[in-house]
Amino acid sequence: MTTVLHVSDLHFGKPAVPEQIERIEEFIQKGHFDVVAISGDLSQRALSGEMQRGRSFIRDAERVSRTIVVPGNHDVRWWMAPLGIGDKEAMYKTYRAFINPELETVLRVPGVTFVGLNTAHGVALHTLTWNYRDVSIIGDLRKSQIAYARRMFEESPEGDARVIVMHHNPMKGELSKRHGVVDTRRVLGAFADLGVDLVLCGHDHQEAIHYVEHTRRGTVISTAGTVSNRSRGGRPSSLNIIKIRERTIDVITSVWSTKETTFVRGPTKAYKRG
Ligand SMILES: [Fe+2]
Ligand SMILES: [Fe+2]
Repeated sequence: MTTVLHVSDLHFGKPAVPEQIERIEEFIQKGHFDVVAISGDLSQRALSGEMQRGRSFIRDAERVSRTIVVPGNHDVRWWMAPLGIGDKEAMYKTYRAFINPELETVLRVPGVTFVGLNTAHGVALHTLTWNYRDVSIIGDLRKSQIAYARRMFEESPEGDARVIVMHHNPMKGELSKRHGVVDTRRVLGAFADLGVDLVLCGHDHQEAIHYVEHTRRGTVISTAGTVSNRSRGGRPSSLNIIKIRERTIDVITSVWSTKETTFVRGPTKAYKRG
């Protein structure tokens, strides 16, 4: 069994809630998690100081767990190269400097392969909308990235659980009524084709667990809520704990309790693999 702590949208900087972050850090140090997955938006404005706090969160987690992390739209300095005009490399400068020089990484643990994909491309022609608020927010997954994920999965032992880590939510948020990523049908179709068992994402700031049925196999989608004061609809912060077994995937959402000043475990949702 592989146990994963899935957190997202920590938004270090103004929106962070120190006691919630510290509680998670304590949880991690107890050593219950094989993997800590952080699905983007570590920062609020991609500032060096915010990224520095993200770096120490990851460094501490790595003492006891393996980690995988991807950028979110808040981690991209999109104004450095809107529509590709400007210094494209400067967009990810603070992320690369403090979090990881690579935007997309692979993590292999016995029985499970995690592929991290970057859906935060800044302001790109493909995701341009008339809604000014959305200009730098929408995510995209390109054909070349799907091909990369395929290659990475194919290099793993047959039978490994296949997990994608990405920032933007492919399922519509209950309160936001929005998908984070464009072309959701294409993206979910590609995941079905790749035989993806589990997707770890965030961005919506509301926790959700979905199961997408395909003809071949189903995909479990864990959308972690935020751990910050930016939760949707005034809901509490939350995180997801996932247990990947040979035949099943269990997802447990833990929600912050102000009364108990800790994250309280909710019911387990269990899904059959394959
Ligand atoms: Fe966020
Ligand atoms: Fe986001």
